[in-house]
Amino acid sequence: MKTLLQNGTVVNADSMFEADVLVENGRIVSVKKGIVPDGAKVIDAKGMYVMPGFIDTHTHFDLDTGSAVTADNFDTGSKAAILGGTTTVLDFATQERNGTLKEALAAWHKKAQGSSCNYGFHMAIARWDAQTAAEMDDMSAAGVTSYKMYMVYNGLKVDDGQIYAALKEAKKHGALIGIHCENWEVLLRMCDEVKQSGVTGPEGHPLSRPAAIEAEAVARYMRVAELADAPAYVVHLSTAQGLLEARRARERAQTVYLETCPQYLLLTDERYLDADAAKFVMSPPLRKKDDCEALWQGLTAGDIQTIGTDHCSFTMAQKAAGKDDFTKIPNGSAGVQHRAQLIYTYGVLEGKLTLQQMVKYLSRNAALLFGMPDRGEIKEGAAADIVVWDPNAVSHITDTDHAHHCDNSPYAGFAVKGRAKDVLVNGVHAVENGVLKQSGAGKYIARGRYQRPL
Ligand code: URP
Ligand code: ZN
Ligand code: ZN
Repeated sequence: MKTLLQNGTVVNADSMFEADVLVENGRIVSVKKGIVPDGAKVIDAKGMYVMPGFIDTHTHFDLDTGSAVTADNFDTGSKAAILGGTTTVLDFATQERNGTLKEALAAWHKKAQGSSCNYGFHMAIARWDAQTAAEMDDMSAAGVTSYKMYMVYNGLKVDDGQIYAALKEAKKHGALIGIHCENWEVLLRMCDEVKQSGVTGPEGHPLSRPAAIEAEAVARYMRVAELADAPAYVVHLSTAQGLLEARRARERAQTVYLETCPQYLLLTDERYLDADAAKFVMSPPLRKKDDCEALWQGLTAGDIQTIGTDHCSFTMAQKAAGKDDFTKIPNGSAGVQHRAQLIYTYGVLEGKLTLQQMVKYLSRNAALLFGMPDRGEIKEGAAADIVVWDPNAVSHITDTDHAHHCDNSPYAGFAVKGRAKDVLVNGVHAVENGVLKQSGAGKYIARGRYQRPL
């Protein structure tokens, strides 16, 4: 089966040109002007941007936090993803404290069966010991070449020595370790202080985790990575101060990669005074306008490498578990469907990012950093994960008008421009004119060693 995307403007992270794109057997076989259809199914891309399928570096589908299970599983989350142009997600397979990495990987493979988008797994390490270290060989062989370690959360938190040892081991495998950077011991004390002062609602959440909680942890991680002589990757960076600490490490010639998320670019902590404030309870919390601006500047300047969503959805009923105590509100928000529309509208159309930077941050850098060199680019031989982006579409995000299986969106009320009109997943025309036509076209992506991003 051949598909021809005709008369579009191809946008890659490092080039932009008019061309037709021919797809056959799941791969891009030709990119040039004037390709004759020759029996191929034709998608009219005139006036559209033809971009590599977007890659979300950070999702939590079907995650059991111990007190709540995310509203989205792989079925609903992956459908929402492709409707937004995201053809690959990197989800967090999570080790049980008393379990093995192999068990976690098997569990996540089971959860992801039938996914509508491609998927790979970062492995969240909950216990660092000789057995876990030895399992990194098996993980590399199974295509898992990135990890997450948490400085926070009961059941997940590891200590600095464990991070140091894991970084040294991961380096041998060409694997990256993303760290959730917050100071757990101090924030627990601050949660108690905030509650003792009489604040028990969601507005207590940002008070208990001010910017320095993240910045201190980023600075510490940078030094631990320096000692381990390993590259450092910070997930969901939310503060100007954290960015500064990462820049300081780079000035010492360290290799540092950063991920931020649309919520830290577009939403501020004023949202914690809203009637539905619980939906914004995530960690790290929403910050100040100055933080958003610093992160945008970090993207404009190329200091931040990726934009993932940290999609971790809970219904308002689940969020209500913390109605009398903000520390009991399940942490996380939805976002997997709207990342590209938000970045296009508030980044590209507002002149903060070029279209090529949008592709760099939503696709190409993720492909490079996470060992998927045949994705993230429209070129001959690449996997045919493709988005036909309609720049003229206009819509509003609401709490309910989306495909993720959750009754809220932190972006409800946002006007957005652009949409994923047609989406190809491994060459399968999964989204046609904005409508999901083929589900289950996703595949597991066994990934290789990390490569330097653009
Ligand atoms: O609040 C959040 N971000 N929940 C998801 C888990 C994590 O820390 O990424
Ligand atoms: Zn995290
Ligand atoms: Zn996360």
